[in-house]
Amino acid sequence: MIGQRKDDHVRLAVEQHHAHSGRNQFDEVSFVHHALAGIDRADVSLATTFAGISWQVPLYINAMTGGSENTGIINRDLAIAARETGVAVASGSMSAYFKDPSCAGTFSVLRKENPDGFVIANINATASVDNAQRAIDLLRADALQIHVNTVQETVMPEGDRSFSSWVPQIQKIAAAVDVPVIVKEVGFGLSRESVLTLRELGVRVADLGGRGGTDFARIENGRRELGDYAYLHGWGQSTVACLLDAQNVGIPVLASGGVRNPLDVARALALGASGVGASGGFLRTLVDGGVSALVGQISTWLDQLAALQTMLGARTPADLTRCDLLIHGELRNLCADLGIDTGSLARRSRNSEAFHETTGSTR
Ligand code: FNR
Repeated sequence: MIGQRKDDHVRLAVEQHHAHSGRNQFDEVSFVHHALAGIDRADVSLATTFAGISWQVPLYINAMTGGSENTGIINRDLAIAARETGVAVASGSMSAYFKDPSCAGTFSVLRKENPDGFVIANINATASVDNAQRAIDLLRADALQIHVNTVQETVMPEGDRSFSSWVPQIQKIAAAVDVPVIVKEVGFGLSRESVLTLRELGVRVADLGGRGGTDFARIENGRRELGDYAYLHGWGQSTVACLLDAQNVGIPVLASGGVRNPLDVARALALGASGVGASGGFLRTLVDGGVSALVGQISTWLDQLAALQTMLGARTPADLTRCDLLIHGELRNLCADLGIDTGSLARRSRNSEAFHETTGSTR
C-alpha cells in the first residue's frame, strides 16, 4: 500500500512538473543591479554554516522517496548525484520502513552510495522517539527532518485526520535525538507563527517548504476517485512570502518549494535562507535524463550560483543578504500587510560596511 503510494507520488509529481507553467512568486523578487559591485570569482565561496551544520554548498536535494523497488532506484541515483556534486540529500518519509523493515535497503542506499556525504533522514510528526532513532541509525544520518503536512494528509484518501499530537511529539523527538532536527513543510509554507512555535519546541532549523513548485494538494487530489478537493490546489504561502515573514525569527531557516534555477537559489539566500532545497524539478531531470543529467544540472546550478555571487559582489552566500532587492506585484501587498518595509530592502547595501568595502562605494 505505502509502496504504491510512493510510486504514485513520483509519477504524479513528474507529470505536474512537465505541465508546470514555470512562473511563481520568486519572479516578484529582483536584485538591484549595481554595475561596479562585481568581485573576483576566485574570492567567492559557496560554503554555509548554520545550527552547527557546515555545508560546502548551500543547496540540497530535499525529501522525496523510498519504500518501493522503483523508489529505491531513485534514491540510489539521488545519492550518486549528491556524492558527485557535494550537495546534501534527504530521504523520503521513512514510515514505510517502520511498517515493513524489509524495504530498509530502499532508504539505506542513500548512505551506501554516499558514505561521506551529508544525509538527512525524514519522518512524520507522529513517529515514536524509538522510530526517529531507528531512522537516524539506518542512514547514519547527519540530521533529522520531521515533515508537517496537514493539507496533504487531508486530501490524501488514506491520510491522517488527527493532528493535535504533532506539537508534543516534535518536542519529544527534538529533545531525544542527538542530531539537529529540521522541521519542514511539504509545499504549503511555514508561517512566522509556526516557526516561532518550532523554536519554542527546541527545533534547530525550519525548512519553510512553501508554495510555487510541487503541489501536494493536486497530487493527492489526483489519487482521489472523485478529485473533489480541486479547490485546494494552490493552497498556502509561497516560499518567498515565507522568507519575508520569517525575518529575524531566531532560528536558521532553509528555503524550499518552487526553486527553479540558480537565480531562485540566490534570491532565497538573499532573503535570509541558510540553504536552499529542491525536489520535484530534480526528480523530473532524473526521470527524464538519468543520473548524468541530474549531476549536470546540479553542477551547473552551483557553477552559476558562484557566477551570480561574483556579479553581485557576495563573497559568501550570507553576503547576499546585504544585496539590494526589489519586491514587485502581489508580494509587495503582502509586505505591506506584514509591515515589511520594502524600501529598506531596496537600500540595504547602503548600511552595509562589508558591501562598501567590496564595491569601494562611498555612499
Ligand atoms: C516529496 N516531498 C516529501 N517531503 C517530505 O518531507 N517527505 C516525503 O516523503 C516527501 N515525498 C515527496 C515525494 C515526491 C515525489 C516529491 C516531488 C516531493 C516534498 C518535498 O520535500 C518538497 O517539500 C516539495 O516537493 C516542494 O519542493 P519542490 O518540489 O517544489 O522543489
